[in-house]
Amino acid sequence: QQAGKLEPRPPVVTIMGHVDHGKTTLLDVIRKSRVAAEEYGGITQHIGAYQVEVQGRRITFLDTPGHEAFTSMRARGAQVTDIAVLVVAADDGVMPQTVEAIHHARAAGVPIIVAINKVDKPGASPDRVKQQLAEHELVAEEWGGDTVMVPVSALRKQGIDELLEMILLVADLRELKAPVDQPAQGVVIEAQLDRGRGPVATVLVKEGTLKVGDPVIVGAVPGRVRALLDDRGRPLQEAGPSTPAVVLGLSDVPQPGDSLMVTPDEETARRIAQERLEKQRAEQLRPTAR
Ligand code: GTP
Ligand code: NA
Ligand code: MG
Repeated sequence: QQAGKLEPRPPVVTIMGHVDHGKTTLLDVIRKSRVAAEEYGGITQHIGAYQVEVQGRRITFLDTPGHEAFTSMRARGAQVTDIAVLVVAADDGVMPQTVEAIHHARAAGVPIIVAINKVDKPGASPDRVKQQLAEHELVAEEWGGDTVMVPVSALRKQGIDELLEMILLVADLRELKAPVDQPAQGVVIEAQLDRGRGPVATVLVKEGTLKVGDPVIVGAVPGRVRALLDDRGRPLQEAGPSTPAVVLGLSDVPQPGDSLMVTPDEETARRIAQERLEKQRAEQLRPTAR
């Protein structure tokens, strides 16, 4: 085993788009159609990230609650997305947040795949959507451009397989790789305080492999991985690149966008936490420039 050797990793996909254009419905359909029907303990829990398998290959989807999260994570240097799926309702067409999403994805240098959703609706006009997107320099492949656009109906579960295939195709062009055999680095997707389990963080592993027992520093929060759970709440022993995992064992609740790093020991994690807290305090005390 060669440390630091790069291996192919699954693409990380974020769904973006205007309010009510069908992001959540689409994510639900993808998840349900691809994940075995039964949920762990019979409970569907809210998770900020999940993986599906398509043709024996995995795709990681991030359910970012809005563009704000995407932007704030990016502003903090937490670039996690490889591909953006832009959902545009075929009846509504391009709306302000559609344009915003295009700008965010471009600024992040992330390729965009367009899912033209709600094609089942009476007023749906995929061509009008393509026309409107062309005005924002997103030109469909069939119109001589280089943007993949897939007509779908999340409601009727149509076009989903095509969309997933296109995601894999675009991912192939990027040749996504990461080292596996080294201490993990990751990013917090979401975190909260759970009554029974204490601080709970959904972390996307970016590089290396996160293991149960690893001492970690997450933002300014030290801890030791007490348990790892997959996107269906099942226990994991370890999580490799592009894998979302729920981490238990942190001493406090970190922030979305915080980085996770495995440290040699818990003492080091606590020392780094202390340094970061002191730095944060110093920054808060510094008078703001006029
Ligand atoms: P926000 O998170 O609030 O921005 O909305 P969203 O983009 O997640 O949209 P959501 O999935 O909540 O869907 C909004 C509405 O559109 C719901 O009533 C869905 O049932 C409906 N909807 C979603 N996809 C389709 C579709 O393919 N066809 C039709 N007819 N309705 C759809
Ligand atoms: Na909605
Ligand atoms: Mg939604």
